[in-house]
Amino acid sequence: MKVTHVQQWCLRLRNRAKLFLITCIMLAVVVNFILVSAMYSEDWGHISFFKDAKRQGNKPSRLQLKPNSQENQIHAESPKCMFYASSSKKTLFEFHKSHYMTVSVNGRLGNQMFKYASLLGVAAQYGFSPFLRQKSLLFSAFQSQKYFYHVSMKNDVSFEEHHAGIYDCRIHNLTQSKNITLNGYFQSWKYFHHIRQEVRKLFQFTDDIIRRATKALNKFHPGNRTLIGVHVRRGDMNTPRELQRGYKVADLKYFRKVFEYFRYEIENALFIVVSDSVSWVKANLAADDVVISETGIAYLDMAILAQCKHSIITSGTFGWWGAYLAGGKTVYYKDYPKPKSWLSEQYNKMDYYPPNWIPM
Ligand SMILES: *[C@@H]1O[C@H](CO)[C@@H](O)[C@H](O)[C@H]1NC(C)=O
Ligand SMILES: *[C@@H]1O[C@H](CO)[C@@H](O)[C@H](O)[C@H]1NC(C)=O
Ligand SMILES: *[C@@H]1O[C@H](CO)[C@@H](O)[C@H](O)[C@H]1NC(C)=O
Repeated sequence: MKVTHVQQWCLRLRNRAKLFLITCIMLAVVVNFILVSAMYSEDWGHISFFKDAKRQGNKPSRLQLKPNSQENQIHAESPKCMFYASSSKKTLFEFHKSHYMTVSVNGRLGNQMFKYASLLGVAAQYGFSPFLRQKSLLFSAFQSQKYFYHVSMKNDVSFEEHHAGIYDCRIHNLTQSKNITLNGYFQSWKYFHHIRQEVRKLFQFTDDIIRRATKALNKFHPGNRTLIGVHVRRGDMNTPRELQRGYKVADLKYFRKVFEYFRYEIENALFIVVSDSVSWVKANLAADDVVISETGIAYLDMAILAQCKHSIITSGTFGWWGAYLAGGKTVYYKDYPKPKSWLSEQYNKMDYYPPNWIPM
């Protein structure tokens, strides 16, 4: 049968239409993919159109938010070394009042708190009597005076840690025939995880500090808003020497992300910022829901952070402890210490940051 000219023409047209349709569908898929990935990429905060669209849709935030590890993470350096996770009252030995343990206390508030907490954790595990000298800064900040007394130890040895922020497994092998002085920073939650409730209790500030912190907070009329403590450490870590060693201050990108995260997660949030660089905060983080606390007194600032529900921290032990005492959700700056630096060799993030804290 012979095909007419008209039929041939129709056939050609149909093929072209099919091709056109397929091209359109493919184009639509590609464009859609690009738009969706732009919307959910980590930098979407800069694209205000999508920000608003997303907020109205009330979709959960898609920022990468995973706690940093499992609770019973075993340290890579010493695979046989577990820390004490349980809070059982049992100790390995009962050396109370025959064996003493203390720690050399220096540094500022955050550092001192790590030493104190780790001393208590290790002493509790081995049944030593822990004590701290009264001239420590902690003596005037906290209610409990239980462990502030003096013993002139005889027959004592020093235990020197290997790294400031890496759980030192040799702590499981302490001598049983001597008094012990811990020397180092002991910046790992693992040293005192088994007595965490007690640590929180011991770190209750004096009534006077709590009263002053509450007063400072009330000035912001928090009402029923959810308080989020933000510690912005910059000043002393932002010098060429410190930066070169691997100290690092959080950048604006971090704050954009983390603020956005909490604004999604928490309705009616109020951010309480504590910082050593107030002018930077004012210039960069100003917003309707951000207030700055300027007490200029370390233990007061920490009491303020501790009274907040959730925490945002940057670098250093001061913010770490504010977040630990607050006890809510904590987001930390994942690039501190700066990867591959001298300082980062002194820290294992699994040991330094509790596993339920969120790197960002
Ligand atoms: C620790 O020091 C105290 C006080 O000097 C002493 O009585 C005690 O025997 C010492 N303990 C050990 C295990 O040497
Ligand atoms: C524990 O201490 C003893 C005596 O000081 C030492 O010989 C042994 O190697 C140590 N074990 C570990 C695992 O450090
Ligand atoms: C918070 O307080 C305001 C008024 O003070 C009230 O309208 C609102 O319902 C309260 N929100 C919650 C969650 O209690």
